[in-house]
Amino acid sequence: MATMRGSARLFKALRPSFSQGQRRMVSTGSGSKSWRPLVLGAMSAGAGAFGVYKYAESQRSVLKDIQSMAPQPVHAANLPEAQPSVWSGGKNNALYLWIHLKPNANVKEVAKVAAKLQKYVDQVVDPKTKDEDDEVLAGVGFGPNFYKQVGGNVKQDFTFAHRKGTLGDMPSSGGDVFFHAKCNTQSKLFELAHLLMRSLPADCVDSAEDIYSFVYKNGRDLSGFIDGTENPADDESRQNVAVEPGTGGSYVITQKWIHQFNVIDNEKDKNMEAWVGRSRPDSMELSRKSITSHVARMTGGNAYNQKKKFEMVRQSMPFGTVTGGAGLFFIGYCASPDNLNFMIDRMVGAGGDGHSDDIMRLTKNVKGTYWYFPGVGELSKLA
Ligand code: HEM
Repeated sequence: MATMRGSARLFKALRPSFSQGQRRMVSTGSGSKSWRPLVLGAMSAGAGAFGVYKYAESQRSVLKDIQSMAPQPVHAANLPEAQPSVWSGGKNNALYLWIHLKPNANVKEVAKVAAKLQKYVDQVVDPKTKDEDDEVLAGVGFGPNFYKQVGGNVKQDFTFAHRKGTLGDMPSSGGDVFFHAKCNTQSKLFELAHLLMRSLPADCVDSAEDIYSFVYKNGRDLSGFIDGTENPADDESRQNVAVEPGTGGSYVITQKWIHQFNVIDNEKDKNMEAWVGRSRPDSMELSRKSITSHVARMTGGNAYNQKKKFEMVRQSMPFGTVTGGAGLFFIGYCASPDNLNFMIDRMVGAGGDGHSDDIMRLTKNVKGTYWYFPGVGELSKLA
């Protein structure tokens, strides 16, 4: 892991930097995966090699140098690879495709389609010519029943229980297959969703929903608060938080939240800031905040700069329409479901202290569940 950490830092120094807004500041395209072996190779070449990176005239020439000295790629069994969506950074748009199968669906055939996700992505965007604008980073997750039926093994229980709360419930909506894809061109995501749906075996889908999200005001939630301030930012911490060691899998929560604009548009700023625990214009943490503020619920306490009990790689984005309902599509990736349970229990008042999360005063959860996104190796077995 130490090598991975070093390599992540080194890769960050080498990869092209995008300055297209907060969400993309940590953008790590699928390119990062193909570069990783090169970088690991360079790392093993020793400290002397670092000087090469530091003083090379351009990144292109640096890459050539690394390629020429790189030994064999190090995709060792103890470093299982996560799917491209799991810890990579955000893009301008995302697709969330949530599928419920019919009871008699041929789950093995469905799993085969899911396992070939990258093939479908490559059909939508040619990997030889893709660039930053049309690159698609995608991953697929499975509900607990489906994954069991197709013979998948999982280390931890990830069933999602319906939670009742004084400020609102968190429904357990279930689901069998969930696709998450990110791209700077929304039409590519539509193409992908369409291709996936028509590639599934005939008559196997009971219901499905595809949601397309967008970056709002350079990384704000539709309530106006900056979303993502405390998200793990660098590749190393994003991998550590999101990826289960030993499997490359990730436990994922998805929740559809519909914002209550009658509240957001009319409530005093001061009150809403107290609910969140941060200021709205610039996301400054409030030095004194209630134990019911969102930040206090999520971190585990209301101290200033509270030590976080658990973390999560959040990739949530705004979605919807003014006339049809809009809000946040919440999606968070973790190395363990313990992180997820801790946070949502504390939101609904089931965290032991009886307090609920004030953020639920401005938004309503209408759909939700957990998924397991297997590592790349595990996923390929389903094919
Ligand atoms: C519509 C629902 C939600 C909205 C509008 C929302 C918005 C926010 C905002 C504005 C922040 C502060 C800035 C930041 O650090 O990103 C935040 C922090 C956070 N949220 Fe949410 N959130 C929602 C739901 C959730 C849910 C369901 C979870 C967990 C399952 C969650 C987990 C977190 C975490 C872990 C933090 C960082 C806390 C910290 O370390 O300070 N949020 N959220």
